[in-house]
Amino acid sequence: MSSDFTAHAKAILIGEHAVVYGADALSVPLTSLTLTARVEADPAGPTLNTEGYCGDFDEAPQLFSGIRFLFTELVEKPGRDTRVRLTFDSHIPMARGLGSSAASALATIRALNSYYGLNLSEPEIISLGNRAEDIVHGKASGLDLQTVNSDQLVSFNKESGFTHIPGNLDAWLVIADTGVEGSTKEAVAMVRDQRDSSPLMRHRLDELGTLSRRAKQAWNQKDSLQLGTIFDAAQEILVSFGISTSTIDKLVDVARDAGALGAKLSGSGLGGVVIALANTRELAHNVAQALRPHAHGVWVEQL
Ligand code: MEV
Repeated sequence: MSSDFTAHAKAILIGEHAVVYGADALSVPLTSLTLTARVEADPAGPTLNTEGYCGDFDEAPQLFSGIRFLFTELVEKPGRDTRVRLTFDSHIPMARGLGSSAASALATIRALNSYYGLNLSEPEIISLGNRAEDIVHGKASGLDLQTVNSDQLVSFNKESGFTHIPGNLDAWLVIADTGVEGSTKEAVAMVRDQRDSSPLMRHRLDELGTLSRRAKQAWNQKDSLQLGTIFDAAQEILVSFGISTSTIDKLVDVARDAGALGAKLSGSGLGGVVIALANTRELAHNVAQALRPHAHGVWVEQL
C-alpha cells in the first residue's frame, strides 16, 4: 500500500519587501512546477528518500527538520506503525522563492493523512504546514503555504491576512531560474537599512506598495499590458535597493528584448527567479526560448 500527493510551487507576482511594511503581496500558484511526496511500507523505516539524502529519518540533514517535525507530530503515536519510507520527487528548485519547503510540507501532510487515515481537517493541515515552515524558516507569513495549497492568486497583507482572488488574467508567466539561491535575510536587512536611513528609499518602498495595489486592479480587469508596465516599474525600484544581481538584470533584459510585457525579480532578490509576462502563448514561447540559454531552468505558467 502507498499514498502520494503532488503539490505545486508558487511565485510572488509583486509586493515582495513592501509586504514587510504592511503593503499587499500577490502570490500566484505555479501548477506546472510540482513536487510529489509518497509514503509506502518499508521494514527498515522510517526512512527518507530524496535526491539529496537517502537513509534513516533521524539522521536526515537540518533541511528536513520541518518534515521530521510532521512525522513526529502525525505518526509517532502509540499503536501506529512507523515502518514507512517517505520519498520526494521534486521539480521545484530549492531556495529560489518558489515555495519548495511549503510544497514539501503540504505534500507530506496530505500523503501521511491519506496513508494513515488521519482525517485531518483543512485548518489542521494549514496549521501543521505553517508550524513546519516556521521550523525551517523562522516565523513565516504563511503566504507560501496558502499559495501552494491554492489554485487561485493569493493576496496577503499583514493586517487583513489572506484573500484568494478568483479568475484568470488570460496571460502567461515565464519563470527563469538564476541558478543562485536567494537570500531573504540579507535582502530584507539591506532594504530595511536603506528605508531607515533615507526618506527617498522609504518613499520608493511606499511606491512598491502602490504598484502592488495597481497590480491587483490590473489582474481584476485582465489588463496584462498594464501589469507588464507595473512589473517594469517595480523592478526599477527593486534594482535601486541593490537587491538585483547581474544575472537577474541579464534575464530581465533578455525577456524584455524578446518582447515580454514586463519583467522583474520575484521573491527576496540576490538570486532566485525572474518572472516575465506575455499576453499570448506564442510570445510566452518566444520569451522562454530566448531565456533558456541564460537560465538554469525556464517554466511557462498560464495565468
Ligand atoms: C521573500 O520571498 C519575500 C520578502 O518580502 C520577505 C517577506 O515577505 O518575509 C522579501
